[in-house]
Amino acid sequence: MSLRSAEKLVSMSSECCLGDVMEKKTNIEYLFEPRSVAVIGASQNKAKIGYRIVENIVSSGYKGRVYPINPKGGEILGCAVYPTLSKVKGEVDLAVIAIPARFVFDSLKGCAEKGVKHLVIITSGFSEVGNTTEERKIVQFARAYGMRVLGPNIFGIYSSAASLDATFGPGGILPGHIAIVTQSGALGIAMIGKTAAESLGLSTLVSVGNKSDIDESDLLEYLANDDGTRVILLYIEGVNQGDRLVESLKRVTRLKHVVVIKSGRSKRGAMAVASHTGSLAGADEIFDSLMHQCGVLRAESVQEAFNWARFLAEAPLLKGKDAVIITNGGGIGVLATDACEKYGVALYDNPRTLKEAFAQVMPDFGSAKNPIDLTGQATSEDYARALEAALENDDIHAVMALYCETALFDTVEFARLLQREYRHYQGSKPIVFSLFGGEKIEAVIRKLRKQGIPVFSDVYDAVSCLGALYRSWRNLHEPQEVAEELPIDVEGVESILDRARSEERGFLLANEAQQVAEILGLDTPRSILARNLDEAVQAAEQIGYPVVIKVVSKDIIHKSDAGGVAIDLEDESELIDAYQAVMRSCRAYKPDAIIRGVEVVEMIRPGVETIIGARQDPSFGPIIMFGLGGIYVEVMKDVSFRAAPISNREAHDMIASIRSYPLLLGVRGEKRKDIDAIAEVGIKLGNLVERCRDITDIEINPLVVYDHGEGVKAVDIRILFRNL
Ligand code: ACO
Repeated sequence: MSLRSAEKLVSMSSECCLGDVMEKKTNIEYLFEPRSVAVIGASQNKAKIGYRIVENIVSSGYKGRVYPINPKGGEILGCAVYPTLSKVKGEVDLAVIAIPARFVFDSLKGCAEKGVKHLVIITSGFSEVGNTTEERKIVQFARAYGMRVLGPNIFGIYSSAASLDATFGPGGILPGHIAIVTQSGALGIAMIGKTAAESLGLSTLVSVGNKSDIDESDLLEYLANDDGTRVILLYIEGVNQGDRLVESLKRVTRLKHVVVIKSGRSKRGAMAVASHTGSLAGADEIFDSLMHQCGVLRAESVQEAFNWARFLAEAPLLKGKDAVIITNGGGIGVLATDACEKYGVALYDNPRTLKEAFAQVMPDFGSAKNPIDLTGQATSEDYARALEAALENDDIHAVMALYCETALFDTVEFARLLQREYRHYQGSKPIVFSLFGGEKIEAVIRKLRKQGIPVFSDVYDAVSCLGALYRSWRNLHEPQEVAEELPIDVEGVESILDRARSEERGFLLANEAQQVAEILGLDTPRSILARNLDEAVQAAEQIGYPVVIKVVSKDIIHKSDAGGVAIDLEDESELIDAYQAVMRSCRAYKPDAIIRGVEVVEMIRPGVETIIGARQDPSFGPIIMFGLGGIYVEVMKDVSFRAAPISNREAHDMIASIRSYPLLLGVRGEKRKDIDAIAEVGIKLGNLVERCRDITDIEINPLVVYDHGEGVKAVDIRILFRNL
C-alpha cells in the first residue's frame, strides 16, 4: 500500500473500527528482541527523556544497533545521530518515539517507509486526556503498515533477552526471571528502583499505558514461551478486551506462574482509575472471580506481589501437598498454622511418620506433631538436624522453618546454616523461613534476602508465599476442560427476541421468557396464561392447587412492587379474591398499563433459593453469576462469577466459590443439594449468552434447588436484550 493511500484510508476510516483496516501480522518477538532500535527525539540535552532513553540503551549493554534520530544530527554517547530515519542504512525493528504529541503522527511515515516493526510511543497527550481521535489515527496508520504500537503514554520497555533497557527509568535493572507488565507508568518506573533494591531480577518490564494496540494479551503470547520468564506479574488498572485476556491467561497459567495486582478495588479507587487511564475499571468482584477461574494469583499489595514473584521464580514445583513447620517457638508455630489455613497450605499430619522422622532430633519435652516444636532449648545443631530430617524426607513436600531469637544460637553461625541448607535443598523442595527477633535477626534477614533466600520477619508473609505456590500448583493439576457447545436453538431464541422487538420492547414477558426456558430445557413450574378470571380458574384446575398468579403486562416489569403477584392460593375462592386484588393494585400502580391477564403458575415446594444469571459485561464480555438468594445476595453480596461459556468443572468451581456453599452441601443433618443440576443451568446460560450476544441480561431468581438427584426449578426468569 502506498503512503498516500494509507493516509487516505486513515482519514476515511477514523470512525470505523480497526478490523476494517488491512492488517499485516508482525511478530511480537521483535518487540522484545529487536536487532536494531531507533530513538526518535533523541536529545543531547541530559535533562530530556530522549537523552535518558539513549543512555539506558547504551548502558544496559544492548548488542544491536542504536540509531538516535534528531534533525540537529551530531553524536550522543558515542552513537551517531541521524537527522531522519530515512538516512539510516540498515533495517530498524523498533522505534522508540519521544517527541511531543502533535509531531508523533508525522513521524510514523518515516517509520513505515523504513519497515519498522514496532513503535514504542513514550509520548503522553492522547486518549488519557481525551485525545482519542489522534491515538486511533496513529494505530490505524501503523496497522496499515504492519507496525504494532506499544503505548502511547508509557515509560518504555526492558528486555533481558536483548540486554535492552529502552526506558527513561533510573537504570540498573537486574536481569532475572520475573516479567512485569504494568499499566501504571509512574508505578512501573518506581518498580525499577524497588526491584533493584530488593534484588529482584527481571526478564522484562513493559509499560502498556493507554493500550491503544498492544495489550496484556499480546505480551502474554511472547512471555508464555519465553524461557527466561518464570513468573509474570501484571499491574492492571482497567480491562478493555477482557474476554481475550481471559483466553490468554487460561493458556499462560498452564506454563508460568501469573500474579496480578489490580487497583480500583474500592469504589473510590475505581473512580480514580477510570479518570487516570481513561479506561473503565471492571467491577472488582468480577475481576477477582475471573482471575481465580484463570488460575491467576491476585496479590493485595505490590509488596505481596513482589514476595510471591521472587519466591515463585526460584521455588521448585511441589511434588505433593504435605508441608511441615519446624520451629523453636510454640507461639510462632501456632501463628504459622493459622496462616496455613488462611493460605491453603496443607499440613502433614501422619503422627507415625512424623515421630519416625523427628524422634532422633527432638528433646523429650518437644512436640513431634506438626508444627515440630524443638522448644526454646534447641541449639542451632538441633535446628539443623530437624531441618535436614524434614528436607530429606520424601513424604514431606514443603518446609516452613521458623525461628524465635534465643541466646542459645550464634546469629552469624545460624545465618550460615540457613544459607547452607537452602542452597543444598532449594532445587528439591520449596522452603520458606521466618525469623523473629531484634536488630541482629533483622540484619540476618536483610543479608539473606539480598542473596535471594525467602526469609521474612512476618510469619504470614512467609506462609503466603507458599500458599501462592500451592494455588499455582493446584491449578496446574486441574484437568483442562473445554466448555462444551450445547445444541441450543439460538435461532429460535432470536425469533422470540425479534417478536418482542417488533413491540419495541427490550425485555421479554413472562410467557416469552418461559419459551426461552423451554428451548434451554430448563425445568420451570407449570404455567398457563389466563386472559380473564374464568380462564384463570380453569387454568388453576388444570395445574392443581396450590397456585401462584402473576400479572402479565409489558408496562409492569417489577410485578411484586406493583402488587401483581399472589402466592399459595389454595382453592378457587382464594384464587378469585387474589385475581381481583392483583387487578386493583396494578391499575392503581400504573393506570395506563395494558394488562393482558395473569399467568397461573404451579406453586412449587420449598427448597434452597439461589440466584443464577448471565450477562454481557462491558469489560469481560459474556459472564455468569451465581449466589444464594435472599439476604445472601442482597446483604452479604455472596456471589461468584465466571467468564462464559463454562465447562462442567468451572461451573462446579463457581458454585463452590461462594461463602455460603456449605449450605448446599447440607448442614444440620440436611441432605446435600442438587449441585450438579445448578451447574447444568450455569452451563446452559453461559452457552446462550456467549452465542446470543443480544441478550444483555438473563436472571433466574429464584432457582430453587432440591436434594441431590431431585433437580432444580427455575421459578422466575427475566431476560433483557438489545433493542436494535
Ligand atoms: N524527529 C526527531 N527528533 C525530533 C522530532 C522528530 N520528528 N521532533 C522533535 N524532535 C526533537 C526535538 O528537537 C528535541 O531535541 P533537542 O533536545 O535536541 O531540541 C527532542 O526531539 C525532544 O523534543 P522536545 O520538543 O524537546 O520534547 P520534550 O523532550 O520536551 O518532550 C516528550 C517530549 C517527553 C515525549 C513529552 O512530549 C511527553 O509526552 N512527556 C511525557 C512522557 C511521559 O510521562 N510518558 C508516560 C510515562 S509513564 C509515567 O507516567 C511516568
